[in-house]
Amino acid sequence: MKPLLNIYLPKFWENIIENSPDAIVAVRKGGEIIIFNQAAERMLGYRKGDVIGWMDIRTLYPPGEAKQIMKDLRSSNYGGPGFLEKREFLLIDKNGWEIPVYISAVILYERGEEIGSVGIFTDLREKKELEKKLLRTEKLSSLGKLAAGIAHEINQPLTGVLTFAHMLHKKFQADEATKLDLEVVIRETTRIKKIVQGILDFGRETPMQKQLQPIGKILDATLELLVHQERFFGINLIKQYDPNIPEIVVDGSRLEQVFMNIILNAVEAMKGSGTLTVRTRPVAHWVEVDLSDTGPGIPEVVQEKIFDPFFTTKDSTEGLGMGLGLAISYGIIKNHKGDIKVSSAPDGGTTFTIRLPLPEK
Ligand SMILES: Nc1ncnc2c1ncn2[C@@H]1O[C@H](COP(=O)(O)OP(=O)(O)OP(=O)(O)O)[C@@H](O)[C@H]1O
Ligand SMILES: [Mg+2]
Repeated sequence: MKPLLNIYLPKFWENIIENSPDAIVAVRKGGEIIIFNQAAERMLGYRKGDVIGWMDIRTLYPPGEAKQIMKDLRSSNYGGPGFLEKREFLLIDKNGWEIPVYISAVILYERGEEIGSVGIFTDLREKKELEKKLLRTEKLSSLGKLAAGIAHEINQPLTGVLTFAHMLHKKFQADEATKLDLEVVIRETTRIKKIVQGILDFGRETPMQKQLQPIGKILDATLELLVHQERFFGINLIKQYDPNIPEIVVDGSRLEQVFMNIILNAVEAMKGSGTLTVRTRPVAHWVEVDLSDTGPGIPEVVQEKIFDPFFTTKDSTEGLGMGLGLAISYGIIKNHKGDIKVSSAPDGGTTFTIRLPLPEK
């Protein structure tokens, strides 16, 4: 290893730096990285050997930020000259992803002269994820209550309209034109009813009916409904169910709805050809289900919104997307004390992972 600045690090100090849970990165004046500990390797995806002596600290910062950090470090406003108090910051990892961190930093001096600096970075990804979840849950529950209230009010008169439309439809059997018009009324009203039902479910207004059952059975029931539809014909289906998966206590028809929503999204994303993979596996106290497609994937900025009610990238004027599928699914999974998350590779493909708790012993 090269000497650090002008000294070699004694083993003991090196151990402390190497084993710090926070990422520690030291640079020479000018920006050349000379210390890059294990936590930094884990956080940023680079190997020490690719970094030390080779890489400039600017590679790890968003454009222009290195200059700002040095300016703030030298100023007396953030803990005194030579110090930078803990603040939120973004690092860029090897794959170009932004990693939210706390940064704190000091300038290193030797005989009064600036020779380099050290930055300490705390990974904030987990904290951010939690905050986002909390916000989402809050947003969902207040929106859900409001929407469910409205849906409830709409449901009654809608049932009336539908009943009378059916009656008229029977009455005008002989009048072809009127009959066809009434069929449009019935079809469109039925569509509204479905949406209203969706909102009611989303607001958790209908009670759950949970029972002990195998998750594979629910997945199969959902797939059975779908595979005979034309839009599924070009899709290759791979099923990988873990044979040893324990049964769980769930509302089967609600979960069918969740799987249906996610699979329909996948089928829509693949536009008629691709592979849908359905995987189940036990993980600690959970049962996990992966639903993967080979569609174009979901950009990170969009991923943040897909569980929001009424968020859609589909053309809703054609009745394609309401933006409720995933919001409803999220509500149902939360109601089962489970979790749902999405991951998407930059070069395409999307996986939704659902985890549901095993029954308590
Ligand atoms: N597998 C996927 N691949 C690519 N994009 C997806 C996938 N699943 C969801 N999305 C994105 O998430 C958005 C929200 O999905 P969601 O199911 O909630 O609503 P929707 O499909 O647009 O409408 P709805 O389900 O109400 O008919 C979609 O509009 C789409 O942009
Ligand atoms: Mg959908």
